[in-house]
Amino acid sequence: MIKVEHLTKRYARNVAVNDISFEVEKGQIVGFLGPNGAGKTTTMRILTCFMPPSDGSAQVAGFDVIQSPMEVKRRVGYLPETPPLYPEMEVSEYLLFVGKLKGLGGNELKRRVDDVAGRCAVGDVRNKLISKLSKGYRQRVGLAQAILHNPEVLILDEPTSGLDPKQIIETRELIQQLSGDHTIILSTHILPEVEQICQKVIIIAQGKVVATDSVHNLTNRMRGSETVNVEVESRNGPLELTSVQQRLEQVAGVSRVLHKETRDSRLTFEVESLQGRVIRPEIARAVVESGWNLNELHTAAISLEEIFLQLTSVDAAKEAKQ
Ligand SMILES: Nc1ncnc2c1ncn2[C@@H]1O[C@H](COP(=O)(O)OP(=O)(O)OP(=O)(O)O)[C@@H](O)[C@H]1O
Ligand SMILES: [Mg+2]
Repeated sequence: MIKVEHLTKRYARNVAVNDISFEVEKGQIVGFLGPNGAGKTTTMRILTCFMPPSDGSAQVAGFDVIQSPMEVKRRVGYLPETPPLYPEMEVSEYLLFVGKLKGLGGNELKRRVDDVAGRCAVGDVRNKLISKLSKGYRQRVGLAQAILHNPEVLILDEPTSGLDPKQIIETRELIQQLSGDHTIILSTHILPEVEQICQKVIIIAQGKVVATDSVHNLTNRMRGSETVNVEVESRNGPLELTSVQQRLEQVAGVSRVLHKETRDSRLTFEVESLQGRVIRPEIARAVVESGWNLNELHTAAISLEEIFLQLTSVDAAKEAKQ
């Protein structure tokens, strides 16, 4: 549904997007992640024909953004970073106006405006001037105009930014409802949002794609070895640090044991496994059989957040450039 090949965008002083390629299949929700200035908005502007690329190509819904921009625009709904609103218009007046620009008319137009006003929860401000709306309501009107002509592809630049928590949940639900029939790319800085609603993630840093994968694969791929936090307590008298440490080091599959803290008669360790080894049951057995109490044993889970930080570090982006 979306195919980007060797896309590059140069500005006078810098390269905002540097030779990126990716594909999005029909019906998918894809999360576009990256730090500030990574090139997310630039890529989205190219995909919605707001700006031509300097190099490379992009196809949306089967049409090329340079050769057939009108065909692309007809099939794409776009929520820009700052929604394109006319402050002197009332909300319903604005939605009717945008609908006409998008080729809708008559009863069909009225029906669509009612539908999106309901879906985006702007019904109660229909007769308000846009200039009088709060930021969250403006965002909702922006989303309403993006889906007004029921486009096949939705490109949403930070759709939940500026919304209150209740509205964030409702917007995520709305986006999920729209998937299936629609293909959606959304950019965000909120990582749990990606984990909740996206099937696939594209991470970009400094204009380069540093990872494209499913959320599930990405977390698994990076996990590799497991880190386990262990707290051991003596049943009688003080514990000798070296003997506990040595016992943990002897457990099959353990690569490293790091002493973290001593508190009263309790010792805590960070134990790392070899690639792909499960070590928790053996650690539990070793501690208990040695006559110590096992107060705590849990995996220090690697989150999407950590993966993101690893992949978008300056070094990682440099590596990708080479
Ligand atoms: N009109 C412009 N002229 C010159 N440089 C620009 C222009 N627009 C963006 N840039 C530069 O291109 C790079 C990518 O910007 P872009 O807005 O695409 O990032 P982004 O990933 O959307 O960031 P954010 O998370 O802050 O929205 C930045 O270095 C930015 O300064
Ligand atoms: Mg942006």
